[in-house]
Amino acid sequence: MILGFIGTGKISSSIIYGIFNSKLKVKRIYISSRNRSIAKKLEKKYKRVKRISNNQEIINKSSIIILGVTPNVGNTILSKLKFPKNKKIISLISTIKLDKLRKLTRNKNIVRATPLPPIEINKGPIVICPPNKSAKNFFKYLGEVIEIRNEKLSYKFWSTASLMAAYYEILNVSSSWLIKKGINKKMADKYISELFLSLSQDAVKKHSQGFKKLVADSQTPKGLNMQVLKELRRSKFYKNFVKSLENVNKRVSR
Ligand SMILES: NC(=O)c1ccc[n+]([C@@H]2O[C@H](COP(=O)([O-])OP(=O)(O)OC[C@H]3O[C@@H](n4cnc5c(N)ncnc54)[C@H](OP(=O)(O)O)[C@@H]3O)[C@@H](O)[C@H]2O)c1
Repeated sequence: MILGFIGTGKISSSIIYGIFNSKLKVKRIYISSRNRSIAKKLEKKYKRVKRISNNQEIINKSSIIILGVTPNVGNTILSKLKFPKNKKIISLISTIKLDKLRKLTRNKNIVRATPLPPIEINKGPIVICPPNKSAKNFFKYLGEVIEIRNEKLSYKFWSTASLMAAYYEILNVSSSWLIKKGINKKMADKYISELFLSLSQDAVKKHSQGFKKLVADSQTPKGLNMQVLKELRRSKFYKNFVKSLENVNKRVSR
């Protein structure tokens, strides 16, 4: 497998770190010299990674091309590049739809994928649309693949994936609160990350029971968890949460 990355930013580099943390065998990975510092670091760290400054040369040398640029850049550069019919394309671009991608690249062998930064540690869901054997065979080493045929439905996953920063902010606020109350930072950060890790692992194990049950099981009548949940509900925390999901959904569905 020879991979070519157009755009070497946050998510492309997470995938590359993920590849070298996994059992996936790759012969060579060509990356664009942009972002230069990330690309240089990757080339230095892995001998199979090679930087190339010309996007067309990356395409010509690779069997699978991964588009890791922002929508504005994608709209500007893709139509100027040639994607021969035998090349497989995986687009990570959040808001360019399949139809448009096919037109811009003049190639039908294209799928959209939504890996997330924890791909770096081979964790997390990766939505692929439409289902595609070679994309699945690639991503199955790097996380949990979810294939979806209906592109409109796949946007819903993009919306929930946008909860990442908000989630980390909950960790940040909780740890900062502990620190303010006198716990040292190292201990506070460790406690909070272990707390949320254990809750997430438990949720993965018990997801077939439904999350409602987990919410119920975590509360002692009139206990502390019940108090926090009630107060947050009363302050419309969850209503606003869903409102943000709806707003993001409008943006990705445009
Ligand atoms: N971050 C995530 O968690 C995530 C997850 C899934 C999907 N995505 C999607 O993946 C795409 C990339 O996101 P990102 O967070 O990785 O963004 P990013 O860190 O800003 O990376 C974008 C990359 O594109 C490069 N670039 C700009 N112009 C280029 C050109 N003409 N040719 C080649 N490369 C060029 C940038 O290089 P310079 O810095 O030199 O301009 C940079 O390396 C977005 O569409 C995003 O929605 C992101």
